[in-house]
Amino acid sequence: MHDISKEYINSINGKTPIESQVEMTELVLPNDTNLLGNLLGGKLMHWIDIAGAMAASRHSNKVVATVSLDSLDFRHPIRMGEVVILKATLTWTGNTSMEVSVNVYSENIKSGSTILTNKAFITFVALDDRGKPSKVPPLIIESEEEKKVFCEAKKRREYRLKRKNKE
Ligand SMILES: CC(C)(COP(=O)(O)OP(=O)(O)OC[C@H]1O[C@@H](n2cnc3c(N)ncnc32)[C@H](O)[C@@H]1OP(=O)(O)O)[C@@H](O)C(=O)NCCC(=O)NCCS
Repeated sequence: MHDISKEYINSINGKTPIESQVEMTELVLPNDTNLLGNLLGGKLMHWIDIAGAMAASRHSNKVVATVSLDSLDFRHPIRMGEVVILKATLTWTGNTSMEVSVNVYSENIKSGSTILTNKAFITFVALDDRGKPSKVPPLIIESEEEKKVFCEAKKRREYRLKRKNKE
């Protein structure tokens, strides 16, 4: 009898964005802040990268490498003692690459209010055991909103590749 691996089945079947979605929660401690008590941008970028990589790895069942991080706007400062919630969702898949959106929210424990502070799009490439790009399962998109997000991601990818080829 043939032994069909989970990896092979996944590569044919594909997965929905929900299946790989990641929610990561962090508490802003003194060591994460600047002299004004606001979360350091570099620390937040690190968390965004980790949350995005977990979603991409979950989708592909592979180790992934970050190949591109789109511009990142800091809309509101995040203060020491606040809770940071990062939601990472697959938006698009290609042959070996995947785009993940990461939305960042800050939650003030005392007031209970939550605001969207950042939005980032990251592209990851799935790697095989030799560190070479490896095929990823297709993204199954069902809702109209997911279709819209997929088309927008495709446009962003074209822009990134144009930018890369100009360098
Ligand atoms: C990831 C890596 C092995 C890919 O190698 P490569 O020679 O670029 O491979 P390819 O040209 O075949 O590209 C692989 C995929 O990435 C995509 N890609 C490459 N550069 C990209 C960019 N700047 N933006 C968007 N997509 C990109 C390609 O279009 C291709 O997608 P597809 O297979 O879905 O069509 C190589 O780029 C690398 O090692 N980069 C450094 C990664 C790193 O150190 N990251 C930080 C730590 S994780």
